[in-house]
Parts: sequence; structure tokens; C-alpha cells
Amino acid sequence: MPRLAYVDGRIVPLAAASVGVEDRGLQFADGVYEVCAVLNGRLLDWPAHAARLTHNLGELAIRAPMGDAALAMIARRLIAANRATEALLYIQVTRGSARRDHGFPADTRPTLVMTMRPFDFAQRVAQQARGVAAITVPDERWGRCDVKTTGLLANVLAKQHARESGAFEAWLVAADGTVAEGASTNAWLVDHTGTLVTPALTRRVLPGVMRAAVVEAARDHQIPVVERGFTVAEAQGAAEALITSTTAPVLPVVRIDGVAVGGGVPGPATARLASAVWARIADQTGYRP
Ligand code: PDD
Repeated sequence: MPRLAYVDGRIVPLAAASVGVEDRGLQFADGVYEVCAVLNGRLLDWPAHAARLTHNLGELAIRAPMGDAALAMIARRLIAANRATEALLYIQVTRGSARRDHGFPADTRPTLVMTMRPFDFAQRVAQQARGVAAITVPDERWGRCDVKTTGLLANVLAKQHARESGAFEAWLVAADGTVAEGASTNAWLVDHTGTLVTPALTRRVLPGVMRAAVVEAARDHQIPVVERGFTVAEAQGAAEALITSTTAPVLPVVRIDGVAVGGGVPGPATARLASAVWARIADQTGYRP
């Protein structure tokens, strides 16, 4: 992949791509983003990502840099320029560049940046067979975790803690003892009656595009879904636990804080959901791992 990026109207080599030091993305994390999967050169679930981006811009009163159709066109141009087959596309929109002042600047143009990097989705197949470990940490994020902002410091620290503990993910535990989500994934369990459980969409949870796809897949496969909170202890004692995201479509969680879940091996409900998601990916993009 040649590693080209899009910055404010131009496709440029990634190494030369830059925004100004007064950009509010840098100064205040005053921006939103999307991470989209590119498989077989095609965008997965584009309408859902575009809709979430537009919604989040609205929540923060950041002007949309352009309409959805123009955004999609640029994304596809960048994918083509990079000759990307399996990759991640990052889209960031910030409130723009202006003299540093907390209040919104008047008449500032939003900054639009897109970057790409190759990504091996097939590596997830082996992880789906083995399962991954999660740790838990207190949720120290702000009050609007439903908005996908670039202000990710608490997520970054949680993920680093997971890495240093040899775990794949850190589950963020709210003050009431329930799991909100992972540092970069949504969190789920399967109870002993075979019901899939995930926290309801409140301000503590990002409405994941993969979360919505998995809810749909579960319904298609007659797996009951309940949206409610659960504690770490409930997840440790559950039949199965799992995480979902664009970059980790369906991954079984087989250890939580060192405690084996479901005998420490991936369970059948998670396996069914994983194959349903691969089928969905194949339908949309033609990609098979
Ligand atoms: N992460 N929760 C959080 C906190 C996330 O950052 C993400 C996505 C998700 C899952 O959302 P989706 O299914 O739309 O990818 C849940 C992206 C991939 C990231 O920041 O890398």
C-alpha cells in the first residue's frame, strides 16, 4: 500500500500529511472520528458509519465538512489511491484551526482528515478459535461516551494496562459495578439460558456498528438478546463472554481478570455469531478470511 492520506481537500503521502498546531483536535481533542473496515477494497457498513459521524458532529455542534455522498466519494478515492484491499480507514473531523480559546471560534472551517493502514482481518480467525483475555479497570471517562470523540485518553490508559497485563482488552467498570464496554470494543455475555446480554445504549456506551450487526445476527439465529447491565462477577460466571468492534468483529473472551469463563474455551453461541458476521462481511464485500 502506498500510504496516502487525505487532508482538507488533497490526497498526499502520509509522511507529508499534516494539520496546523492550532487545530482544535490537537489543542482540545475537539473532534470526532470513525474507524471503518475495508475488505476486498470495499467499505463495510458505510451507511452506519456515515450516520454515526453525522450524529456525533451534531451532538458537538461541529459543522459537517460535506455531505455523506461527498464523504463516501473521498473515502473511495483514497481506498483506490492506496490500492487498499484489507485495511482500516480512519476519518477524523475536528472543529478546525483557530487561535486557542476554549469557546467555539466564529466561522472556522472544520478539518477533515482520512488515513489508512493495512489490516489483517484473517488474524481474527485464530483468535476466535482460542479466545482472548480481558482485564477490568474503573471507567474514568467523561459523561458522553456515546459520542465517538478523539478524546480517548482514558481508553488509551486502559488499553495500555491491558497490554501490560498480557490481555487483549480492558473492560471499563462504572461506579455502580457494571461493565460499560471495552476500551475499544463493546462488551457482551451469554447467560446459562443462552441469552445474549449487552449493556443498553446509554451515555456510558458507544453505539457500535458491529454491536448493531451482532444484535441483528442474533435475532436472525433465534438467539435472544437482552440489553441490560452486568457485573464483572456475572460475566466471569457466565456461559460465554465476548467483545465486538469493527476491528475485532466477534472475539470470545475466555478469561476476565484471570478467571476462566465457560471453562476457558470459546463457546458455541459466540462461534455462531462469529460465522454470522463473517457471512455478513462476505455478502457486503465478497471477502472471506
Ligand atoms: N473502536 N466502544 C468503544 C469505546 C470503541 O472505541 C469502539 C470502536 C467500539 C465498537 O464500535 P464499532 O463496532 O463501531 O467499531 C465500542 C474503534 C474500532 C477504534 O477506536 O479503534
